[in-house]
Amino acid sequence: MSGEARTPVAVLGLGSMGSAIAQTLLTAGHPTIVWNRTGAKAGALVEFGAIRASSAVAAVAAAPLVVVSLLDDDAVGAALRDAGPRLRGRVLVNLTSTTPEQSRRRAEWAGHHGAEYVDGAVMAVPQGIGTQDALLLYSGSESGYRTAEPVLRTLAGQGTYLGADPGRAAAFDAALVSVFWLSFFGVSLGLALAAAEGIAGSELVPFTPAVVSLLPDMAAQTAAQVEAGHYPGDDTSISSAYTAFTTLRDVIARHGIDTGVLDATGEVFRRALAAGHGAEGLARLVPVLAGNR
Ligand SMILES: NC(=O)c1ccc[n+]([C@@H]2O[C@H](COP(=O)([O-])OP(=O)(O)OC[C@H]3O[C@@H](n4cnc5c(N)ncnc54)[C@H](OP(=O)(O)O)[C@@H]3O)[C@@H](O)[C@H]2O)c1
Repeated sequence: MSGEARTPVAVLGLGSMGSAIAQTLLTAGHPTIVWNRTGAKAGALVEFGAIRASSAVAAVAAAPLVVVSLLDDDAVGAALRDAGPRLRGRVLVNLTSTTPEQSRRRAEWAGHHGAEYVDGAVMAVPQGIGTQDALLLYSGSESGYRTAEPVLRTLAGQGTYLGADPGRAAAFDAALVSVFWLSFFGVSLGLALAAAEGIAGSELVPFTPAVVSLLPDMAAQTAAQVEAGHYPGDDTSISSAYTAFTTLRDVIARHGIDTGVLDATGEVFRRALAAGHGAEGLARLVPVLAGNR
């Protein structure tokens, strides 16, 4: 499996993500064996040159590299239930979103069947697969990753191996996805408030990059302060930020907009203040959030 176009790859799961993966592999010239629970979804890929497998077991048997992209860990368990004996000597790359614990258990199961297990987290949308901007994070068997790497490079310009713990990619995934989800709720709240004030979303959006672009530096500074255990409040203290925060909450509440997301945040602020951290910087909220007063 040295990356030459002839390396056959089996793709299990042809949802939005699995289809994009299979399409990208085909475009790169890899013989691509596809399987999906609902067989009809393979149609377009077969027309494009994919080989349809009659079962997940047949797909696994047909290629030295097996890439899995299914809904969740239960779906992976269901799809691979009878495939264990066929996994010996293969590299299994599981790109399904899972918890770190599920990934570790899946690695144990695959190892028991003689496969090299690589867990992957897809930090991209299906349209991004195969582009330079796409980021895929991997962990688990290093030799499995190195063997599959030339093929995996076709899926994402930015592929990063994070270490031997099979749960590590899923842990990075969860941490990064929490940044994404809460940012998305921030955008949603901003749009709801703008609408209540008679501001069209399209009027607000041009100003969002200036706000969002503050985040990378803020994340780096917060991480450095948490690692150092030192939280200078010179720029913004928790008590002054909480004052601004309560003003925002008032505006939101006056418009009858759901304050639930903000109230959860307010509770963290209040715990920090009650523990005497008012003069410290916002980074002090990280250990408070983690339950360490
Ligand atoms: N789409 C994205 O933007 C995105 C981004 C990053 C990560 N991901 C991750 O990529 C994975 C796939 O996502 P997706 O967007 O492709 O999802 P999707 O379009 O909903 O497809 C789900 C796939 O799982 C299969 N499946 C569900 N339950 C099953 C079961 N019990 N047994 C066998 N197969 C089963 C479905 O088969 P049927 O066709 O038969 O229903 C389908 O192939 C997920 O873990 C997701 O979190 C997705």
